[in-house]
Amino acid sequence: MINKMELKFSASLSNEVLARQAVIAFISPLDPSLEQIGEIKTIIAEGVSNAIIHGYELDASKDVFLKAIIDGEDLELTITDYGKGIENLEEARKPHYTTRPDLERAGMGLTIMETLSDSFAIKTLPGMGCKLVIKKKITHESVAYGTVSR
Ligand SMILES: Nc1ncnc2c1ncn2[C@@H]1O[C@H](COP(=O)(O)OP(=O)(O)O)[C@@H](O)[C@H]1O
Ligand SMILES: [Mg+2]
Repeated sequence: MINKMELKFSASLSNEVLARQAVIAFISPLDPSLEQIGEIKTIIAEGVSNAIIHGYELDASKDVFLKAIIDGEDLELTITDYGKGIENLEEARKPHYTTRPDLERAGMGLTIMETLSDSFAIKTLPGMGCKLVIKKKITHESVAYGTVSR
């Protein structure tokens, strides 16, 4: 079965928790593990904060768009802003690269999101905005216990 949701919210960091909680509530029928919940929260926090801080430079009159689709055990998240976009995507994707060292940014957001996702795509054009498409399977791997020999 396919299920989908869309959320549009002001580009204010106070809405980060709304974005995280909405998606966690949406995927709860899949019974995600605590680890998966943590990973998805991190992905959304990084993506949404990038849209707000970098895309919109904290202009709360602008809107961030968050979409989630569940197809079986596949989750697809799309985070979109129509802000300033990324000049040099290759540079931006490198660990520790940030254009806002003044805000004490660690430059790890894109790297972390990519690491925690099964697939991670960025579409961006300078002046047009940024769209992240993140895919992650919500599976239940059964824990394999080895035989203990005494
Ligand atoms: N939505 C976005 N809009 C514009 N620029 C972005 C966006 N997301 C990321 N960037 C650019 O990519 C850089 C790296 O992002 P990230 O790895 O999350 O590090 P940080 O947020 O700590 O700077 C940012 O400094 C910024 O220049
Ligand atoms: Mg970031």
